[in-house]
Amino acid sequence: MSAEPKYKTAFACAPLVYVNGDYVAAQDAKISIFDRGFLFADGVYEVTAVISGQLIDYAPHIERLKRSLRELGMDMPCSDDELEKIHRSLIEKNGIDEGLVYLQVTRGSENGRNFPFPAGAKPSLVLFAQSTELSEDPKAETGVALASVPDIRWERRDIKSVALLAQVLAKQEAKSRGAFEAVMTQDGYVTEGGSSSLGFVKADGTIVLRPFSNAILPSITRQAVTKLADQTGVAIEERLFTLDELMGASEVFMASATALVMPVVKIDDQRIGGGQPGPVVRKLRALYFEMADQQAREQSDAWS
Ligand code: PDD
Repeated sequence: MSAEPKYKTAFACAPLVYVNGDYVAAQDAKISIFDRGFLFADGVYEVTAVISGQLIDYAPHIERLKRSLRELGMDMPCSDDELEKIHRSLIEKNGIDEGLVYLQVTRGSENGRNFPFPAGAKPSLVLFAQSTELSEDPKAETGVALASVPDIRWERRDIKSVALLAQVLAKQEAKSRGAFEAVMTQDGYVTEGGSSSLGFVKADGTIVLRPFSNAILPSITRQAVTKLADQTGVAIEERLFTLDELMGASEVFMASATALVMPVVKIDDQRIGGGQPGPVVRKLRALYFEMADQQAREQSDAWS
């Protein structure tokens, strides 16, 4: 019998998905082979966490989606109301209590392969939902390991593009080294995780984060954490930092819609904070769930 994997990362898609106007069984969902998402990774995506059957920080995710689309000269594929309805229907139809909704918009398809934008192509819209453990995630109790890799991505990482090959390679490398996530570095500084934002806590309790720019994705979870830290009087310092500094920190954390606030206890061969999740990150994770529960309660009141 094979041993239980240390990090469970494979999540099965819920049975009902949305493709260009229809709710269909996942195995029947189809997209053209000429779709530019398939041929050129010409598209963008969002991942929104679901807690207590409700969408967490939905509005900023959709704002970021609109910005990504704008930066690539693409239109929203449907109205705001319609998009929210699709998100909610997938949660409801698939009975998702905790997990995520994945959304992808591509520039659509024409009959062939041409690099420049096709005239009049209709964007493709695909959404699906997955159940994952968030509030009871066992990784949050033990903390996770990171493996450092060079950041080989393009220069517009602020756009949430589906062109994720560099991250696929980074995360595969991390996995092969027994780590849960990659920490990517460029020009001597940490950029971010393979699919997460990274930060650390200094000895005086200040949280250090890399400033948002074209070099990293403006993480919605990190913005929520920053707000919570601010409300509880924790100072935030935004500046570049090195891998050595991260490895020498008393506490390190990842932030993303899939891991939420996740303590990091090892980077390469270096233990962080004695190899245990520390009090500041534990507290921020608890505050995050309080905030999420509050949002979920407000939405369930508004939608019932
Ligand atoms: N990734 N940085 C990168 C490169 C990311 O891919 C992500 C999220 C984040 C965190 O952003 P947010 O807090 O808005 O989820 C930072 C998603 C979850 C993914 O690709 O699965």
